[in-house]
Amino acid sequence: MTESERYKELIHLIEHHDWRYYVLADPEIGDEEYDALNREMLEIEKLHPDWITPLSPSMRVGGRPSDEFVTVTHVQPMMSLANTYSIQEVEGFEKRVKQLLDEEIFTFTCEPKIDGVAVSIQYKNGIFSKGATRGDGLQGDDITENLRTIRGLPLRIISGAGKSKDFEIRGEVYLAHEDFSQISRDREDSGMAPFANPRNAAAGSLKLLNPKEVGKRRLRIWVYELIAADEWAGTKHSARLNILEEMRFPVVKTWKVVGNAEQIEEYWKELDSLRESIPYDIDGIVIKINEIKLRETLGTTAKTPRWAIAYKFRARKAITRLISITHQVGRTGAVTPVGELEPVLLAGSTIRRATLHNEEEIKRLGLAPGMDVIIEKAGDVIPKVTGRSENVPAGKYNYPEFCPVCKEPLVKPEEEVIWRCVNISCQAMLKGRLIHFASRQAMDIEGLGQQTVELLADHDLLSDPGDIYSLNYVKIAHLPGFGDLSARKLLQGIEASKQRPLNHLIFGLGIRLVGAGVARTLSKRYGHLDEIADAIVKPELLESIGEIGPKIVGSLVDFFSRPKNLVVIEKLRNAGVNFGIKERSEETNQEPLAGKRVVITGSLTDMTREEASSALRELGARVVSSVSSRTDFVVAGELPGSKVEKAKHLGIKIIEENEFVELLKDQDKR
Ligand code: IVH
Repeated sequence: MTESERYKELIHLIEHHDWRYYVLADPEIGDEEYDALNREMLEIEKLHPDWITPLSPSMRVGGRPSDEFVTVTHVQPMMSLANTYSIQEVEGFEKRVKQLLDEEIFTFTCEPKIDGVAVSIQYKNGIFSKGATRGDGLQGDDITENLRTIRGLPLRIISGAGKSKDFEIRGEVYLAHEDFSQISRDREDSGMAPFANPRNAAAGSLKLLNPKEVGKRRLRIWVYELIAADEWAGTKHSARLNILEEMRFPVVKTWKVVGNAEQIEEYWKELDSLRESIPYDIDGIVIKINEIKLRETLGTTAKTPRWAIAYKFRARKAITRLISITHQVGRTGAVTPVGELEPVLLAGSTIRRATLHNEEEIKRLGLAPGMDVIIEKAGDVIPKVTGRSENVPAGKYNYPEFCPVCKEPLVKPEEEVIWRCVNISCQAMLKGRLIHFASRQAMDIEGLGQQTVELLADHDLLSDPGDIYSLNYVKIAHLPGFGDLSARKLLQGIEASKQRPLNHLIFGLGIRLVGAGVARTLSKRYGHLDEIADAIVKPELLESIGEIGPKIVGSLVDFFSRPKNLVVIEKLRNAGVNFGIKERSEETNQEPLAGKRVVITGSLTDMTREEASSALRELGARVVSSVSSRTDFVVAGELPGSKVEKAKHLGIKIIEENEFVELLKDQDKR
């Protein structure tokens, strides 16, 4: 097989496995095998960039960040649906339709109403071409690049009637509960306000201007309308849903054709009972006339069609007393306020507690203990307090300043909404932190998993990670579940962990915002834990390296300036844990531009500034913003301005973009 044939085959394979995984939820291969296919494809694309077309799976996140979305006019307006809340209203709908259609025979389709964001997508010649939000119904935002990141959406049609055809689909972009929780955790970890629900999170994600960021959000889609010629798409909506499925679009399995309001009610009840077990939010059902031709006969009102309605599920709301507000401290120290409620029955379960998110949310809702509040349960499982009961005046609540568990002061970095406990020995965080410290990517301590950590902490043998190294045979051999052999093994595992590389130790300390990647950068740059602790007095030193933004610097400064954390570090040092090598690590010295200070100015044509900066950082350089006598050289793009003048004045070397590109190429060859 030639390389180009293999490339085409790889694209086919990836398309196939995307479909199995994202559409059918029935993968045929594991993650590793899938990653290997992608890697092989990317390797070929690196060698033959001219082979890449918009249909390559790599181009799903290939779009460049934009400044704003372009407005597009919909080919057909995107209407909304009239809502109904009772079977009587549904019967009214049935009656109206019957009257308008006279003697015509018709049926209904029933589908779940997905609680997400409506989008429309054009396919030209069977190829994904343009996608837009609903906007005001007539015009929306062009979000083509963002929609490409949804892997369940085929970039081209390879089976079914729509091959090589022009058509439009409509569907709902949504987030599955598990992905929503992940996004919420990530946001809370970095101090951002969480999204109120999966729909807001999906809408917010579609509005991001950088498709790479959108790609990380794991958006999904259910497709529910096919707008196309009757000749191939058929004359019934139900036939079109089948065709969409053959064309490999994600179509819900639970749609149904029914004949009357009674059967609609049955469908509605059945779906409502499934609601809790569906892994994404639905808020009702959509009832549509099945015969496409009759849709035209029925026509529309100003905003909604006469051929479809939504029949919503009953709101899952209840009113109860907010007895008190307590505060939970998570592994990372994030403090979450929790409403302790007078127990109340809601959608089949008794609710005693509900999240209050953060201080801002409590203020916004004017909540205070003792008042009657509204609680709501959306499709997701966690109940929320969404407001005060009618006529209850806003109250005032003084948010605690100290950790409810260890009583140390809480901190809240500027611009963030979450208060945190940053005391490494706080008991609330202790177990989580210890498990993290001992985990594979950190100190990789064999024999020290969750159960053992809990056992040791419950026996007061560990009050911070430093204590792990003062465990001995006498202390542990008698513990329940421990024997001679397991005690020895654990001690061996602990001993072996003292030799882990510095980046593992940094990661293991569990400093907020310092993940494995940042830990690697820090270890490479500073070589020794003490050097990092020293660098934090000069934050500008830290900020000048890749991946380290002001938030991370703030978190490092905070960590290394707390006496309790320093005690832990001393315990680790005394135990002989590897802190690295005092002088710059060898690796750093081998970097060709190690320690050089570089300024980039003017606009570059071949790469973005960010790309240029990160290329320089990889070679060990420090990219700084202003020219001084300590600058080693300046990279000048087009229209460079005053920095170049200053560099000339100071006699600093100036290189132009083409020279710079050559320099990068030379380094690549090394
Ligand atoms: S059909 C004119 N089908 O509900 C009718 N809409 O309140 C076009 N939605 O804007 C929409 N699930 O965002 C249709 N199975 C479904 C749906 C659905 C959710 C949303 C859609 C629409 C809104 C109307």
